[in-house]
Order: sequence, then structure tokens, then C-alpha cells
Amino acid sequence: MTIEYRQITAAEHRSFGVAIERGFGGHYSPSQEQYRLDRLTLTPEMSMCAFDGGEIVGTSGAHPFETAVPGGAIIKNAGVTAVTVATTHRRQGLLNGMMKPLLRQERDKGQPVASLWASESIIYGRYGYGISIPHENFLIDTRKTKIKNSPEISGRIRFVNPDEARKLFPVAWEAAVNSHVGVPRRNDHHWDRWATGLNESGDGWSKPFLIVYEEDGKVLGYANYLVKELHVFGEHAHGMINADDVIHSSAASHAALWNHLLNVDLYDTLNTWRSPSDDSLPWMLEDQRQLERKPYDGVWYRLMDVAEALSTRTYLAEGSLVLEVEDSFIPEWGGRFELTGGPDGARCVPTTKAADITLPTASLAAIFLGGAKLGDLARAGRAEENTDGSIALADAMFATVRAPWCPMMF
Ligand SMILES: CC(C)(COP(=O)(O)OP(=O)(O)OC[C@H]1O[C@@H](n2cnc3c(N)ncnc32)[C@H](O)[C@@H]1OP(=O)(O)O)[C@@H](O)C(=O)NCCC(=O)NCCS
Repeated sequence: MTIEYRQITAAEHRSFGVAIERGFGGHYSPSQEQYRLDRLTLTPEMSMCAFDGGEIVGTSGAHPFETAVPGGAIIKNAGVTAVTVATTHRRQGLLNGMMKPLLRQERDKGQPVASLWASESIIYGRYGYGISIPHENFLIDTRKTKIKNSPEISGRIRFVNPDEARKLFPVAWEAAVNSHVGVPRRNDHHWDRWATGLNESGDGWSKPFLIVYEEDGKVLGYANYLVKELHVFGEHAHGMINADDVIHSSAASHAALWNHLLNVDLYDTLNTWRSPSDDSLPWMLEDQRQLERKPYDGVWYRLMDVAEALSTRTYLAEGSLVLEVEDSFIPEWGGRFELTGGPDGARCVPTTKAADITLPTASLAAIFLGGAKLGDLARAGRAEENTDGSIALADAMFATVRAPWCPMMF
């Protein structure tokens, strides 16, 4: 079997869609409009596929995202997506074969990092990805607790229709991009594709309810949620509420949106996912025990240009460290780097000085946005301290005021 790895051509676009959908266990039958939007978002240039005898048997691609890093600078971020291998070709090394050309292609576009959501958590560590944005999923019985503490809320919540949502949600999203590390900036084609789902319902769930939080006419947050009735005739009314997105850019927008979601009478089992690991909702509740928290690995990052990535962010404490970064998947992307940084900026360059810390590239990805502590990784055997005190210094430097967050699955 000879496998060829290359981008798709424009003529292969529908086969690309068929292969992706089939790889995830579905059938590709988009409406005309969805197909038009798929062609605009899943372009040949962002693809990297495996072909057997001219047939697509493996798919992958990367969206050209931009995200903030600690300190507020925006970096280019390859949002890896659509990774599948046909069931006829699995466990024969095709993902191993696709990942390298995909990463090289994306780095050549000037993107120092790549990121992804993993369908299964055992897949991507071998390629140098580390868990960078851990999240939490929440389950709340809203009959048993209410909001007791809240910052002052000067704005208001109102319902919007899908057309207004398509206009206003991107404004709130951009505010979230600028106020949180890790929220990917999305282009208009992404928003159009997302908006096609706003009139859909299924499996007993309502169509989405769409709300915005505004202060002086400025949109600072939004939520979209679905409800489903569960009550049995003759018993008290009861149902589930599923908050798909709770997008906020300030303490007030966060509190106002959650206050709304916890007060949708008759729908009392509130499910939500992708909350940042430092979400303040538990601290707002009268009874924290009524909030079940489930940690989730969230978004994985892969550093493709260590020097560029580390020099773009700022560091909470001043310091200088030499890091020996081991990259077993693409060795030339590893090496020894001297990082000198602080709250005002940083410089990271290759060096031949002795290394203070030796770590695999996945461990560096895990601490890159402040989502993990190097001390924790070191105690798990995932980093080695060569100079006493250097791991404590790394933790003081890489620490961030807020946890990173990526409220969008891609
Ligand atoms: C995940 C998937 C793309 C892997 O493709 P593949 O071609 O079978 O992977 P490879 O043969 O290149 O295997 C790569 C390595 O990962 C391991 N691996 C990959 N997927 C795995 C899985 N689901 N469970 C256990 N191990 C897995 C393989 O054992 C192999 O390990 P090795 O290199 O140490 O030998 C494929 O199983 C798939 O399409 N799954 C369904 C869609 C999906 O979940 N995609 C990922 C979206 S994030």
C-alpha cells in the first residue's frame, strides 16, 4: 500500500467532506448553503489528507485562528480539525504519516503554535501536544441553590433572534478574545457556518434561546441555551437546560448570564460545558455542593516555534531560564532556549548555555498559557530540574492571573 500525503484540490472538496463525516460516524449530506460555507472554511490550503490510489482515506486540516497569550498579544494559532482515518485504514500509521506534513505546512504559514480538541485523550501526546486549556463541565440542580454573591450588574439581558445573534454575538466574542487568553478569533465564514444551526432542534430539545448582555448598548456577553421537558404528567414540572455557550468578557456579564440561566423556571437541571477552570460561578452560589464539577482536558497545544511562542507572551515574575526542550516527533523544533522575561515582555533565543530545566515539548505546551504548573508536571516525571530552584522560578514566571479559556469546539 502506497499512501500519498497532500492537500486536496478544489475538485476533491465533496470527497473531503464525505471522508470527514464518515470518519466520525456520519453521512455527509449538507444543504446547498452548508456546502457553500464548508468550501469557504475547510479550504484546500488548510487541508492535509492521505490518499490510497487517488481515494481520500485520511483527513486533517487547520483553521487559521488568532488567540491572545498572557500579556494580551495575539498570536497565529493553527486550529487543527477534521482529523480522521477511514475505518478501512486505521492502525496502519496514517495519522502518524499525516501529522508531520500538517504541522510543517502550518508552521510554514508563520503560526508558532497549533491547538486542538481531542476526541480521545490518548491520541495526541505522542505528537508533542500537551493539555494547555483545562476546562470544567458543570451540572447544577437549580431548585437547590441560587446566586448569593454577585458583582454589581449595571447592564441588562435581552433575547435576540437568529439574525440579531449573527450580528451581535461576534461583537461579544471579540470582547472575550481580548479579555481572555485562549479564545480563538473567528472569521465571518465561521460565524455564518455556526449560525446555520440556530434554527435547528432535535431529540426533544428546543431550538436555541439566544440572549445578550449589554451595557449602554454595548454587547459584552451572550448565551445560547436549549431546554427539554422531562416531567411526567401529574407530577411537578421539571426539565433540563443545556447552556451551549456562555460567553462573557467581564465579571458583570458573567454574573448576569449565569443569573439568567439559574432562573429559567421549570427547567431545573442545568448542564454546561467548557467553563474556565477558574470560573467564579461556584463562589457566587449559596450552596456550592449543588454544583457538580467535572474537569475535562479541553484544548491541547503544540509548540511549533518555541522561541517565537515564548517571546510573544509576558511573564508574571521577572526571571531568566535555560530550557532544554526535547521534541521527539520533530527533533529540529526542539533544542536549548534561553528565556528572559517579566511583566513587560520577553526574549527567547537558542543558546548553548547549560540547561536549568529539561522537559519534553508537550510539558512546555501545558504550561505555555498558565493552565498547568511545571512543579506538578515535574513530580509526575514530566520535567527535570537541573538547577535548584529553577522549577519554582518557572512556575512564578509562567503563572497567570486568569486561567486560559477556549469556549469553542473546532
Ligand atoms: C484517531 C484516528 C485518526 C487514528 O488514526 P490511525 O491512522 O488509526 O492512527 P495511526 O495508525 O497512525 O496510529 C497512531 C498511534 O496512535 C495510537 N492510536 C490512535 N488512535 C487511537 C485510539 N483511538 N485508541 C488507542 N490508540 C490509538 C495508535 O496505536 C498508534 O500508536 P503508535 O504510534 O504508538 O503505534 C482514527 O482512529 C479515527 O479516525 N478515529 C475516529 C475519528 C477521531 O476520533 N478523530 C480524532 C479527532 S480529534
